[in-house]
Amino acid sequence: MKRILLTAIALFISYPLIIFSCSKIPHFELSRFIQPEICGGCHDEIYEQWKTSMHNLSHVDELYRVAAFHYLKGLTDPDEIKEAEHCVVCHAPIGYFSGFPKKVSQERDNASKIAEIVKKGVQCDFCHSATGAYAIYNNQMKLDPGYGEANPGIKRGPFKDSHSDFHKSEFSEFHTSSEICGVCHDVRHVAFGTKLETTYEEWSKSPYNAKDPKERVTCQGCHMYHRPGVPATGSTERPKNPGVAAIGGPPREHIFTHYFVGGNVAIPLRHGDALKAKMAEERLKHAARISIIDSQLHNRKIGIIIENIGAGHYLPTGLTDIRQMWLEVVVKDIKGKIIFSSGVADSKGYLPTDTVIFNTVFGDGKGKAVSNIAKAREILKDHRIPPKGKVEEFFVLPNFLPETIAVHARLLYRSASQKLVDELLGEGKLRLPIVVMAEVKKDISVKKQ
Ligand code: HEC
Ligand code: HEC
Ligand code: HEC
Ligand code: HEC
Ligand code: HEC
Repeated sequence: MKRILLTAIALFISYPLIIFSCSKIPHFELSRFIQPEICGGCHDEIYEQWKTSMHNLSHVDELYRVAAFHYLKGLTDPDEIKEAEHCVVCHAPIGYFSGFPKKVSQERDNASKIAEIVKKGVQCDFCHSATGAYAIYNNQMKLDPGYGEANPGIKRGPFKDSHSDFHKSEFSEFHTSSEICGVCHDVRHVAFGTKLETTYEEWSKSPYNAKDPKERVTCQGCHMYHRPGVPATGSTERPKNPGVAAIGGPPREHIFTHYFVGGNVAIPLRHGDALKAKMAEERLKHAARISIIDSQLHNRKIGIIIENIGAGHYLPTGLTDIRQMWLEVVVKDIKGKIIFSSGVADSKGYLPTDTVIFNTVFGDGKGKAVSNIAKAREILKDHRIPPKGKVEEFFVLPNFLPETIAVHARLLYRSASQKLVDELLGEGKLRLPIVVMAEVKKDISVKKQ
């Protein structure tokens, strides 16, 4: 009897823990989070950098919103619906952690109920209240926010000797590691477990995740060294950025920048930030190198080598089912007549079907390709360039080549296929800019081969 009673008591005590460990993310009152503008009052430069970054825009980003609402349409499978509803955990994290919106459908149907702070996306007080993570994917962040401006609590960061009259400060190793980024930059299907985005995993298996601190380059080591004119990639210098972290703060050897620029040119431009669009171009232009293989022309084959020299993850990374990175190859005779081409976009910006694209294709579990990630039960294709790795692609030229050919190859990037953007937003609404990541030109004497 005593044992039964003890078991009952033990169960009673552990019950909330069981519930807690299943739902993982505890609830936080919205009023506990502080508006980024308040932080910006003292951290003025950091605030200006973060403003209209993709983190600031994660919730209002038109492409995100239209994709999220589109994926939800017509689903009936409960597991698929669960995934399609889950986007807000990363794209509106303060909303998700404080209870609204918990689901994409709430975001769609009750837009007026969404608090202003939530719309500001991935922001200061979310990242700087983090203490660790339950798991390094799907934004399972452990948080310890303060209680609003009256009692802002502890802000965690890279300094061991930091003092502010406004908030307590604490050194946090987590903030100096790639794991804090990986918490959101690894995305798994909530029901099927399919790996939808693997930027952190790619980095963790790459040569950049070296044990030797001199060789090691974290996400921050590239992305939070980036500033105008300093792309800070694996193929460039990554000089320190001396300055102050706050108005009146002490001089510091390095202030981590907060532009958070990747490859997105279109969305910052739409929000009037030409600087970040230019920085994204600069970053993309220091990511890859391409060269020509002309040793197999006797077989009418021309090869292109694509090397990932600048990114700490695969090229491309992140949303690789949607991003387009492709090879455009044009071969002419000496008079300038085109004798072969591949990957040349038409006047609408659409690509020929045989274009060499580096991307991921998801499947429905039975081998059929799906474009809605909510239905992604398997990975059918994953053809991309590993960090510090390379890929070779061959093209077969037509018979009867002239004596000399001029080869022009370009590695091109845009955030999505133009066809998809036209389907989602309507034709002519958004023309995605195409960035030339790398190019090579060569005149080759065919006879010599
Ligand atoms: C996506 C998460 C994230 C967001 C959003 C973010 N930070 Fe940071 N911040 C970091 C990380 C990570 C570091 C430390 C990097 C390291 O040590 O490798 C940092 C460093 C800092 C520092 C120390 C000084 C420096 O820059 O090195 C301050 C101050 C700071 N952030 C303030 C802010 C403010 C203010 C905002 C909002 C305008 C903000 N942060 C938004 C992640 C974030
Ligand atoms: C009244 C001015 C003021 C406000 C408002 C303010 N800070 Fe600070 N903060 C400072 C000063 C000063 C420092 C010290 C800078 C240094 O040590 O170089 C600092 C340091 C930090 C650090 C570094 C902590 C460490 O140990 O590495 C972080 C992170 C930070 N603040 C985040 C925030 C966030 C997030 C907000 C908004 C919720 C905020 N701050 C609001 C003045 C302020
Ligand atoms: C709370 C979740 C979260 C955390 C933590 C986070 N990110 Fe992000 N990040 C996002 C989301 C969501 C987007 C995409 C927003 C969009 O495109 O609408 C994004 C976008 C980016 C982009 C821009 C990508 C592009 O295509 O231009 C970069 C770069 C980036 N993050 C780097 C980092 C780094 C570095 C860290 C760690 C210091 C980090 N992120 C931590 C959620 C997060
Ligand atoms: C060695 C430098 C380097 C490191 C380390 C690095 N990146 Fe990048 N990152 C780049 C370059 C260069 C690009 C631009 C090419 C591209 O878009 O992939 C980029 C692009 C991105 C993008 C945009 C991808 C796209 O095409 O939509 C995201 C998101 C991103 N990085 C996140 C991260 C995260 C998270 C980490 C750590 C897990 C990280 N990066 C580590 C250099 C780096
Ligand atoms: C675990 C975190 C996480 C979840 C959940 C998540 N995303 Fe994202 N999302 C990201 C990150 C990180 C990026 C940036 C990656 C990159 O730039 O390649 C991103 C980028 C995007 C973009 C690109 C926006 C642009 O302007 O290029 C779209 C669209 C998007 N997500 C849609 C969705 C939809 C729809 C869902 C839900 C079905 C979803 N995301 C769920 C983290 C997440």
